[in-house]
Amino acid sequence: MALSYGDYLKVDELISLQQPLSKGPNGPEHDELLFITIHQAYELWFKQLLHEIDHLMVLFAEDEKFRCLHTLKRIRTIFKTLVQQVDILETLSPLEFSSFREFLDTASGFQSFQFRELEFLLGVKNPAKMKPYPEGSKAFVGLTKRLKAPSLWDAFLAFLSRRGFAVPLDVMKRDVSEPIKSDSELQDLLIMIYQTEPLLSEIMEALVDIDEGLQEWRYRHVKMVERTIGMKPGTGGSSGAEYLRSTLFAPLYPDLWNIRYRL
Ligand code: HEM
Repeated sequence: MALSYGDYLKVDELISLQQPLSKGPNGPEHDELLFITIHQAYELWFKQLLHEIDHLMVLFAEDEKFRCLHTLKRIRTIFKTLVQQVDILETLSPLEFSSFREFLDTASGFQSFQFRELEFLLGVKNPAKMKPYPEGSKAFVGLTKRLKAPSLWDAFLAFLSRRGFAVPLDVMKRDVSEPIKSDSELQDLLIMIYQTEPLLSEIMEALVDIDEGLQEWRYRHVKMVERTIGMKPGTGGSSGAEYLRSTLFAPLYPDLWNIRYRL
């Protein structure tokens, strides 16, 4: 029998996965389905982002500069979609959210291991974020691997170094499980590349797009949280919006921002 759309995409399984927990007078609360659908859609996009960034790192390792730029553009577009999707959830009023919030119990986006994998892969290396995952669990093992592995930034610097650019030795030999630090010698090199290498400059601009994309998502998420639950604590046990605000405006790649006043 010829393959059908439903069989290929496993549509039956997919649309059976949205299972509201709330118990209103006439069954589940109407708005819980949107909340579940949007979170599941985000998780699918997180999976796709991990897939694309892993691929991008292989392309950097193979010195495929045009294909790197192509993949960076795709990643950037997915980030734009992530940010836009917040608009849909912002149609959920505080009253609508409170109609089912108690059923979330301690569940929170805070526990999204794919989001943490994404942060680690992009270079936000913070082992404290592994706390929600029991040692030995699939999430813990996956995150430990990501923590110890080079980030996208390390792959980019190795690519520059292979192309003959003098990336400072201490930057090349940095402990990749540590957060990315600013380096003035590296900044000089990046400025020189901006001034002389148009294609590599485009690659750096695309990295800045991704950096800004994640910052934009964090900002839209915290505003959504503020308008939905105000300053209430989160279901994941944090102070809520107050905690989320502390994550804003931290760049992934500080030197790509630090050099701008010198360009
Ligand atoms: C009404 C909608 C939402 C509310 C009220 C909300 C609330 C919160 C709160 C209060 C936190 C802080 C941790 C805690 O729970 O104590 C948090 C973290 C988080 N949420 Fe949401 N959230 C919403 C929608 C979403 C959506 C759609 C996603 C997409 C996956 C998401 C992903 C995350 C992530 C990844 C974190 C961890 C952020 C970090 O630690 O930097 N949230 N959320």
